[in-house]
Amino acid sequence: MKTAPRAFSSLTHIECTACHQRFDADQLLGVCPQCGKVLYARYDLDAAAATLTRDSLRGRRPDMWRYHEVLPVRDPSNVLSLGEGMTPLLEAPRLARRYGLGTLLLKDEGKNPTGTFKARGLCAAVARARELGVRAISIPTAGNAGSALAAYAARGGLDAYIVMPQDTLAINQAECAIYGARAYAINGLINDAGRVLRGLAPQRGWFDMSTLREPYRVEGKKTMGYEIAEALDWELPDVIVYPAGGGTGLVGIWKALEEMESLGWIGSRRPRMVAVQAAGCAPIVRAYLEGKTHAEPFENAPTVASGLRVPVAIGDYLMLQAVRDSGGTALAVTDEEMLAAMRELASVEGVFAAPEAAATVAALPELIDRGTVTPQDRVLLLLTGAGMKYTDLVPVSLPLVDPQRPGETIA
Ligand SMILES: Cc1ncc(COP(=O)(O)O)c(C=O)c1O
Ligand SMILES: [Zn+2]
Repeated sequence: MKTAPRAFSSLTHIECTACHQRFDADQLLGVCPQCGKVLYARYDLDAAAATLTRDSLRGRRPDMWRYHEVLPVRDPSNVLSLGEGMTPLLEAPRLARRYGLGTLLLKDEGKNPTGTFKARGLCAAVARARELGVRAISIPTAGNAGSALAAYAARGGLDAYIVMPQDTLAINQAECAIYGARAYAINGLINDAGRVLRGLAPQRGWFDMSTLREPYRVEGKKTMGYEIAEALDWELPDVIVYPAGGGTGLVGIWKALEEMESLGWIGSRRPRMVAVQAAGCAPIVRAYLEGKTHAEPFENAPTVASGLRVPVAIGDYLMLQAVRDSGGTALAVTDEEMLAAMRELASVEGVFAAPEAAATVAALPELIDRGTVTPQDRVLLLLTGAGMKYTDLVPVSLPLVDPQRPGETIA
């Protein structure tokens, strides 16, 4: 008797994270039609485990699609890839020594296409939307998500509509333009851009790709959790420090840990999940400190870390739950601390990371003070983006050498 071919994806249904209503996974869904909250993709993990084993990973493609059984794209020919995922996990011994820590690990997400971890989420979401028949997509962005969406839209031949704050980094504006997206600026923040796009999308026939307002970006982001476990030979770190804006990466890693436990790959112990925000925009930190399950919108949100300028997050309750259930914490760092940490990370370990990423380094002293991090812990910092996108934050003026008398200038 012939056995049925194994499915590329073991996606079974979509489930609401709040009211737990289930939905058909092969229809196009945004937020929960019943209650308006975040939807998650669910898989038949027993079926997935038939082919997806820890050993099977050894021979697989070196990108995030190596975990395809737990990703939502059903037909392998619909995978859109630019080489996302499988980013380096680096030891940082010199930095660890400075902070009196044992093991400090850096996951360098700046190595992704478009230079940030946003590539993972948008890769999965654009591929799945295209598989479900979508031809035009829209996104409000603080910058880097727009760049990633534009790249994958180009890769998949989709039309992309992007709205971003008018002071978004020049590189993000250039990326959207070069990838052929229709990009627009707004005098406001990402939530204002979102409101504008959500008003237009239905009449224009665009599918809205806002953070956690469709079920699949988080699926791409969760692959960070799988990669961390795989790279550490299934011995999870004690603490994971994450720079939180909309929070997809944080809740994605949390989801991956649950799935890996169901697959029998890890036990029930969880790393303490830490959400770091910018002091100028810290709604999740405020809600955490006040013991709330939802965050109030943060008024005025100045910070040089554009990815952390997210005054309202639909996934606030999911972030707060992951932080609390894991015994982690939430804290804010100032722009000055982030910029100093950016220089420290680059000059001490040779990693030029984005200010959002450097926020995780800036958080270390307070995490040690609070006892969330101890010298015995293995601590992993998620370096979400490349510093090379933020050269404006590193103004330099090189001394000019006179070729006739170089010794006068060169010390
Ligand atoms: C470099 C970088 N780090 C962190 C974040 C925050 O990510 P999330 O919104 O998934 O929490 C962003 C978002 O734009 C970003 O660009
Ligand atoms: Zn619901």
